[in-house]
This record gives sequence, structure tokens and C-alpha cells, in this order.
Amino acid sequence: MGYDRVIEEIKSRIDIVELISEYLNLKKTGENYKALCPFHSEKTPSFVVSPSKQIFHCFGCGAGGDVFSFLIKQENISFTEAVRLLAERAGVQLKGYSRDTEGQSRRQTLLEIHRLANEFFHRLLWEQREGYNYLTKRGIREETIREFSLGYAPGGGDVLYRYLTKRGFKEEDILASGVCKKGENSIIDTFRNRVVFPIYNMRGDVIAFGGRIMHESTMAPKYLNSPETILFKKSNELYGLYHARKEINKKGYIVFTEGYLDVIACHQAGIKNVVAPLGTALTEQQLRKIKPLCRKVLLLFDSDEAGVKATKKAFSMIYENNMEGKVLLLPEGDDPDSFIKSQGAEAFKKRFGHAEGIVDFFFSTSRSTEVETIRELMQIVSRVEDGILRARLVKDISEKASLPEIFIREELMKQRKGMLDTSGSFNRSLPANSVDEMLIALLIGHPEYLDKVKEQLSPDYIENEMVRAIYTKIIQTKKDDLFAIINEDEKALVSRLLLDITFDEEQLDRNLEDCIKRMRERRLKRRLKELQEEMRIATERSDRELLTGLQRKWTELIKEGQQSGIL
Ligand code: GTP
Ligand code: MN
Repeated sequence: MGYDRVIEEIKSRIDIVELISEYLNLKKTGENYKALCPFHSEKTPSFVVSPSKQIFHCFGCGAGGDVFSFLIKQENISFTEAVRLLAERAGVQLKGYSRDTEGQSRRQTLLEIHRLANEFFHRLLWEQREGYNYLTKRGIREETIREFSLGYAPGGGDVLYRYLTKRGFKEEDILASGVCKKGENSIIDTFRNRVVFPIYNMRGDVIAFGGRIMHESTMAPKYLNSPETILFKKSNELYGLYHARKEINKKGYIVFTEGYLDVIACHQAGIKNVVAPLGTALTEQQLRKIKPLCRKVLLLFDSDEAGVKATKKAFSMIYENNMEGKVLLLPEGDDPDSFIKSQGAEAFKKRFGHAEGIVDFFFSTSRSTEVETIRELMQIVSRVEDGILRARLVKDISEKASLPEIFIREELMKQRKGMLDTSGSFNRSLPANSVDEMLIALLIGHPEYLDKVKEQLSPDYIENEMVRAIYTKIIQTKKDDLFAIINEDEKALVSRLLLDITFDEEQLDRNLEDCIKRMRERRLKRRLKELQEEMRIATERSDRELLTGLQRKWTELIKEGQQSGIL
């Protein structure tokens, strides 16, 4: 019996309702069970267990999955430990299948590789002046270089690879760590000719790197991150968190900036509770990670249109997690690093006193009418689970809009009622599920459609990152049990979709066709938009040859769209 079979065997012998009822007071409602969620604080139950699907999901905090996921979260243990516990309970023999030691030692090896690579880069920064000069020119002090262990990756090609091989590491492990990769004919260093920023986990281990070019160029991306590995998922990590944790604790809030150098510049200016996502927008996982440390967030973003949009999205996530947020918009085109450089640390710190709350921010950046702004705000407020926090927001809105609270409250009741009606529980996933989610929900429930869809949709049709990852996995596997191939974060999403979206069995073909059509349409429009932008640039540069090529492509796309009935 292979390890996967063991997992399936355990699952078939354990009933999720039985297991969870040993921990929670489950109440039957319809075909499912409900309870107060053990993973976040709430007053009305949004934790649902489905006996028919053998999954659980909390519509309040987003946790979800199978029996293993529950134990992992509830007992705060690893997957392997959960398997061991449940195997015992189910009477399944585990001997010989312990992936534990193997997995553990792999992790240890990769951590060791990162530790050495970090030392190597850092040493080279002092020895070879190029990286050092770059950082100094950007105003980074020697003590800061030491504190963040900044480094320099030389341009040789495989300098680090040779160093690690000499230290006895196997090619396979070095590749798995992501610090080196397969080149055309040989193995090369992932970071070449860049200054490097080690990325730490909460325990202070280096688990990845970010690297910046030292001379502006259009050929190479400005920043490069390590690829995703067993140590590193970029949507889970925050740059600077390890260095900021004590100060976050002391100050009671965390500051989000956009980039590596912003974190470092703030730190040098004496503001040390600062972190940054790794080149992406703030994610749910990142918020959950900091929640045990503090409940207050200060967003420090650019004030351009993209910055305002990112701020709204972040506010929405912050309040859905019953956390509180403020925002400080810097002058357009400025980031904390450039602001500190031009105006000085004191001027920067002074600005902190002028941070705006969510209500002021929505009003001051709004381009629509006051009524629309209020509605937009109410959508966020209605998803706040904490009653006191919600009441405070209502009060703020009513004061700002000079409207009696009762009106705001009425609107709120309407919105919350709408949410309660659709799923029978508080549902944070509203507004409507995206077409990506619809498609994956349909496929999970009806794998018989998989072959047909696989032919028509390559993964790049899917925009939602996590859904795309799940889709990629299910079209490659031959396994029946989807839960065996997806990770814990993905399980939380899938469990929600399974409970949330039901299809009319009679309408499946039509639903599927609709999904596919909408996704093709979306992709076509996206490609047309990209082309338009490329054509604009070609026109600006008077590059006729390029422009003709692009125009041909444009016509082809339009024709393709018309033939398939999309346009
Ligand atoms: P500097 O130009 O060094 O001051 O960096 P910045 O942080 O001001 O750059 P920017 O505002 O352009 O980008 C913010 C963050 O996005 C960076 O810190 C990176 O994490 C990420 N980023 C920027 N450019 C790239 C890129 O070309 N590729 C990737 N993967 N990430 C990038
Ligand atoms: Mn910058």
C-alpha cells in the first residue's frame, strides 16, 4: 500500500462529524452540522461540517478542509503528526510509511543551504565592492547591512553552485532550494549580479532571497524572488517580519509598505514595526499570520490610482478579519524610501500623526457620489463579524455623512440579511463567486467533465492564482481523491466552494459552457488590451515593423473572437 492509499484508507474509516464533535458542540441544521468556530472568535456559528462531503468550512474565518486539516489546526500539529494520530484511531498500520523523517531532513537540508548561501552572499558584499557601493549609494548604513544580512550575488554564473557542491550538497537538494536552477546546458545560480535580501521566517531562518539589479536595465526584471519551495510560499511571507516582531508587539500595530527598500529605509529612520509583501498585493494568509501579534495595521502606500485601489482592497481584508486599519498616503510617486531621502526621517515620522481611518479615506478618495461611497463602505462593514467594531464604524460613517445612525444601520441590516439568506450562515465570500471558482467547483463535484475541459482550457485561462494552482494539479493527476493532492490553503478554498456553490444537475452542460465562454472572452479581451498597449508603445517609438506585426495579430484575434462567437 502506498502512502496515498494509507491516507485514503484512514479517511474512509473516520467520520468527520464524529471526530469534530469530540472537540465542538455540533448542532444539526438541515443536512449539515454547525458550531461556533474554534479558530476565530464569533457569537453566531459559521463553522459548518458536511457529513456527505466529509469536509468542514468556517465561513467566518475561511478555515476548512478534511479530517487532517481539522486536526492540524485544532491541535497545532504537522500533517504527518495528524496522519499518525488518525491512523492510530482508525487502526491503520503506518509502519514503513513515515514520510516524516525524510520530509524533515529535506527541510533541514534546504535550511542549511539557505544559511550557507546567506553567509556566502553577505561575505561577498564586504569583499567585492560592487554591491556594497550600490547599497551605500542608496543610503543604507553598514549597521543596517549587518542587521538585515544584505548580500551580493556575483555575476559569474555558477559561483554559488560550485561553493555549495564543494560543501557536499547534492545537486537535487540545491535545485530544490531554489538558489540555483537549470540553465541551458548546466546549473546556474538563480541570483547573478544582484544585491540580495535574505527573507526570514518567524523563527529567524533564511528561507528565500530577493535580489535587485544594480544598474537599471530593461532586459532583466528589477527584482527577483526565489521560486516557491517547500520552505517558501511568497503569499505567506512578509519581508522584515522577523526583524519587526518585537517592535510590533511593543507598538501594538504593524506597518505595511510595498518594497524591500522601504522596510529598510523605515528601519533606519527608527520605525521598526515595518514589513512588506514580496511584490504582490497583501494576502489573506499574511494577515492571518500577523493576527496573533497585533490587530492594528497601518498601510503606507503610494497615492496613485493603483495605490488607492490596493488600499481599498487591503482595508476590506483587514476588517473582514476583525482587525483595524489606517492609511498614510505618500505624495504621488513617492515611496517611504524616497520620501525619507528627500524630506528626512523627522518629516516622515511627523506624517504618522496624520494617518486616515477607513471612513475618512473612502470619503477623501472617492470619485463617486456620497451615497455610493457609503454603500461601498457598508459592504465592508457588513462583513465585520465583531459587533463592537461594526458599531464603531457605523458611528464613524454617520458622523462623516451627517446622517442619523439609524439610516446606516438599516442599510447594514439589509446587507447582512442578504448574506445570511444565501448560505444560511454568515458568508464572507460574497459578492458572487468568480467564474474561476465556479469552474473549479463544478469540476470537483463532477470530475467526469475534466477531460472535456482540459482540452479547451489551459491553466492560463484562470486568473485567480490559487484556483489556477488547483486546476493545474487536478488536470495532471490520475487520483480520485482531490484532497490528497492539494495543500492546506487550497483545501480551505475548496471546502468553501463545495459548501457554497451548488449546481442544478440538469443544467450542468450549460453552466460549464457558460464558464468556458466567459473565460475565453475574458482572456481574449485581456490579450487585446495588452496588444493595444504594445501598439501604443510601438507608435510612440515609431517602430513601424513592430506595429505592422502587432496590427496583424490584432486582426487575427478579432477574427478568432468573431468565429468563436465571443465578439
Ligand atoms: P527600488 O526601485 O529599489 O526603490 O524598489 P521599490 O521597492 O521602490 O520598487 P517598486 O515600488 O517598483 O516595487 C515594489 C516591490 O515590488 C519591490 O520591493 C519588489 O518586491 C516588487 N517588484 C518590483 N519590481 C519587480 C520585478 O521586476 N519583479 C518582481 N518579481 N518583483 C518586483
Ligand atoms: Mn523605492
